Amino acid sequence: MCGIVGYVGRRRLVPVVLEGLKRLEYRGYDSAGIVYLQDGALVKFRSEGKLQNLENILGEAIGASSNIGLGHTRWATHGAPTTENAHPHSDCTGDLVVVHNGIIENYHSLRNELLAKGHVFASETDTEVLAHLIEEYLEKDLQVAVTKALARVEGSYALGVLWTGMPDTLIAARNHSPLVLGVHDEEGGFMASDIPPLLPYTDQIIFLDDLELAVLKGDSHVVYSLVSGDKVEKEVKTISWNSAMAEKGGYKHFMLKEIYEQPQAIIDTVSGRINPETGSVELPEMNLSDADLAGIERIFLVACGTSWHAALVAKYWIERWAGIPVEVDIASEFRYRKLLIDKKVLTISISQSGDTADTLAGIRLASELGSKIVTICNVVGSTMTREAHGTVYTHAGPEIGVASTKAFTSQLAALFLFTLYLAEKRGKMEANKRLEMGRELINLAAVIDKMLPSLQEEIKKLIENYYDVRDFLFVGRGLNFPIALEGALKLKEISYIHAEGYASGELKHGPIALIDKDMPVLGLVPRDAVYQKSISNLEEIKARQGRLILIGTQGDEHLKCIADDVIYLP
Ligand code: F6R
Repeated sequence: MCGIVGYVGRRRLVPVVLEGLKRLEYRGYDSAGIVYLQDGALVKFRSEGKLQNLENILGEAIGASSNIGLGHTRWATHGAPTTENAHPHSDCTGDLVVVHNGIIENYHSLRNELLAKGHVFASETDTEVLAHLIEEYLEKDLQVAVTKALARVEGSYALGVLWTGMPDTLIAARNHSPLVLGVHDEEGGFMASDIPPLLPYTDQIIFLDDLELAVLKGDSHVVYSLVSGDKVEKEVKTISWNSAMAEKGGYKHFMLKEIYEQPQAIIDTVSGRINPETGSVELPEMNLSDADLAGIERIFLVACGTSWHAALVAKYWIERWAGIPVEVDIASEFRYRKLLIDKKVLTISISQSGDTADTLAGIRLASELGSKIVTICNVVGSTMTREAHGTVYTHAGPEIGVASTKAFTSQLAALFLFTLYLAEKRGKMEANKRLEMGRELINLAAVIDKMLPSLQEEIKKLIENYYDVRDFLFVGRGLNFPIALEGALKLKEISYIHAEGYASGELKHGPIALIDKDMPVLGLVPRDAVYQKSISNLEEIKARQGRLILIGTQGDEHLKCIADDVIYLP
């Protein structure tokens, strides 16, 4: 959840880094810091809490003439969120600083070793160990010292290092934690833990891979392997996101903006991939031959959080329309269980970022067992897209809001495309049916676009009756069971209200005991094949004086008879 921004170039350092950190605020953090090199010495500012606190203590330093330095937003893991534990962390001399995302797993033994050698620690963090370890190996060349230090480290890192002895150089290194470089002939060199901080300055991005180190100067960048020490030729990718795409665009907050961007995300995900005349789907970047597709006996979908919910929805689609058995796994469980996977299994990872550690570990395992890997992903060039045999990009644009919204919708669009594609290739769907479903998918964006503004007003009014509750249930059947899970997740992470998602039919097996007037239930009841069953489940809630909000199909008047509130969807 931490953020890193580093810069070396012609601009004044502090505004570049501060603005960059603001663009990473969405990730969540509890302290922040900045360091720059001025007249041969490092100048460091750190504070607890919001970036505004850091800005306040910076005062006139905002205008400092320095043009090399690093910034960080920290989400506490080792040690409380205090100023002392905020990054950057220094070595004993104060001439070397590091910022770090990730976790140094062997920090305890390294710290004891360094203490025994006389190093003095000023924080409780695992990160500070890195500063002292690099100091231990530092002679003339920072790159050499960082490489030697990292060879001793177990765990994950995205790392930025600055040393007064090499005043024109930043070192960046990565292992299991995302780090990108931005390069531009005139602006200079940037590093960041995500792309948005770079967007105002450059669209030329280099994605570091695990166990790589970059030497970044204002006019050059060289990447090395931390394993062999050799130079690595890296592709510079041009990213099509622009700066405005990562700003609020008049909305109150990013999440609302991204909710409204769902239609565009669907259009961008679907367009060019489906023929509106035939319903035929093309997904060439998936890199699977017809023989590969014909040979698939089972599909594993692997993902975390919201992306896992998208996978659960896709299971219904793929099994129903393409006739292939699908297993869905939470990546953090998948990677630690006995996997019965071979080359007849297709493994699909679903990930907005393409860098989620558990999902990545999952596809690596599946690949080792012989499975072909496809990733459904939003970030071009991310680790998953580079390691998978094929990719289906979601084209949702940058996701800034901490809660996945448009990324989820675009994942569903991509998974629906994939279902149609598979059904066609395996001869499981009539051309007419495919055409009908393809057209519905194309129309979906316009339907959502039309419905969102009035829905927002309606929900604003309705929420007056519910905002002060402490618990919520979300229920649905079939496809809407995972949607209920997703609704509950959103409420938890955004409103800090306890919420659970259930399959409606499961209520009677225990959770119904919770129903009373203090536990509102949100039921998803479109006019689908399981409508009547759902209604019976909801009647049971009503019989226990439960408060019901129902989301159903326009024109379904019956819902008003059982619900306290109804939200109609086209
Ligand atoms: C919830 C949310 C998370 C992510 C999860 C996986 O709103 O955003 O649950 O879905 O952390 O992230 P990705 O999709 O990047 O692998």
